[in-house]
Amino acid sequence: MLHSNLSVNSAGHLVIGKSDAVELALKYGTPLYVVDEERVRENCRSYVDAVKRYLAPGSEVLYADKALCCAAILKTVMQEGLSADVVSAGELYTALRVGFPAEKLYFHGNSKPENEIVYAIDAGVGHFVVDSAEELEAIDRFAARKKVRQKIFLRITPDIDTHTHKKIATGTVDCKFGTPIVTGQAEEFVRRALSKKNVELDGLHCHVGSQIFTAGPYIDCAKVMFDFIGEMYAKTGFLPKYLDLGGGFGVRYVESDPVISYGDLIRKIGEECSRICMEKGIPVPALLLEPGRSIVGDAGITVYTVTGVKEIPHHTNYVAVDGGMTDNPRYTLYGAEHTMLLANKAKLQADYRCTVAGRCCESGDLLGENIALQKPVKGDMLTVLSTGAYNYSMASNYNRVPRPAMITVKNGEDRLAVRRESYEDLLALDIL
Ligand SMILES: Cc1ncc(COP(=O)(O)O)c(C=O)c1O
Repeated sequence: MLHSNLSVNSAGHLVIGKSDAVELALKYGTPLYVVDEERVRENCRSYVDAVKRYLAPGSEVLYADKALCCAAILKTVMQEGLSADVVSAGELYTALRVGFPAEKLYFHGNSKPENEIVYAIDAGVGHFVVDSAEELEAIDRFAARKKVRQKIFLRITPDIDTHTHKKIATGTVDCKFGTPIVTGQAEEFVRRALSKKNVELDGLHCHVGSQIFTAGPYIDCAKVMFDFIGEMYAKTGFLPKYLDLGGGFGVRYVESDPVISYGDLIRKIGEECSRICMEKGIPVPALLLEPGRSIVGDAGITVYTVTGVKEIPHHTNYVAVDGGMTDNPRYTLYGAEHTMLLANKAKLQADYRCTVAGRCCESGDLLGENIALQKPVKGDMLTVLSTGAYNYSMASNYNRVPRPAMITVKNGEDRLAVRRESYEDLLALDIL
């Protein structure tokens, strides 16, 4: 199986953790997001342990909660001792409601509306990760009004190309995030932040992209950032307490994706950062990492019901399901691949080639093409693996399709985490 928390039982059913996926689908209906809480906890622990072992004191793991933001998951990562990266007042509100201490929250985003800046300052958010000079001015102004000294990081664009998909590469000079070094704007940004009375410049932030399986891009990024830090130190005397290297560690979606150890990658990154700092004669800052996908991605599956099989001779075999881009837009957005199987026939040979079609009125609403499945019939339970990240959090009500329920499983027990949307929910905001 793609992940060690997945197996097949004697009935030939897919098992996640210790729970039979077919029984869960019969109990809760489909489409159904299932998240293995134990796996989320294991992922959190592998980060926290490695950060303690290999990185400078004060280093931390922030869960990038855009990957999967709901109360049950935030509580789990909070219990595991992670801080969190939020990118909107909505994510901030959710984190505060589940009891996250405000000082453990980092407010990201390239386009923070001013009312959200005010909300975050009022809520006592720990740090802003400031994207631009304009945003810096606004934070300084609102912090003055509130009579606080707001802690901030500056988001710097290191100009690193990770060769990942264009839509998830975020570190190149002309991307919409951050302020670039090569244009000279990052230097001006630091000088400006240091001159402000109502902000305290605590650290620098960078993020190179997503689905990265090696330490190389992080080390390349760290080199650029330490060059910049060395230069700023020489010119202004400023040394950041923290360097935030962002998120982006990869998750296995298909067998050809490598199996990686997050601990090993963190060790390599830690060793290289210490070496570079020693070479430059600057103290090693505490490092922050912001994993999202790699905390929840492999913990999730989505179970659908096959609503029909349409074979077009000499062309395509379509297997249609009762969900699609409304609960998982990743294939439509990025052509992202996922492994699929029939949860009720998991022991059988997967030699039926097909396109898995969603239910929306869009030809592009597909979950995958050239997928190898067990021979499907209407009523089978098609299951997509590795759907813990960027599925529920990117779901929509296009075509007025209600969002699925999400359950968590732990030690063979299942719990509703998010209830299925009702037709009433779909109308809840309409003025009738
Ligand atoms: C600033 C920042 N941090 C962390 C993440 C999380 O990335 P991932 O889920 O790939 O770990 C992202 C993803 O877009 C991001 O933009």
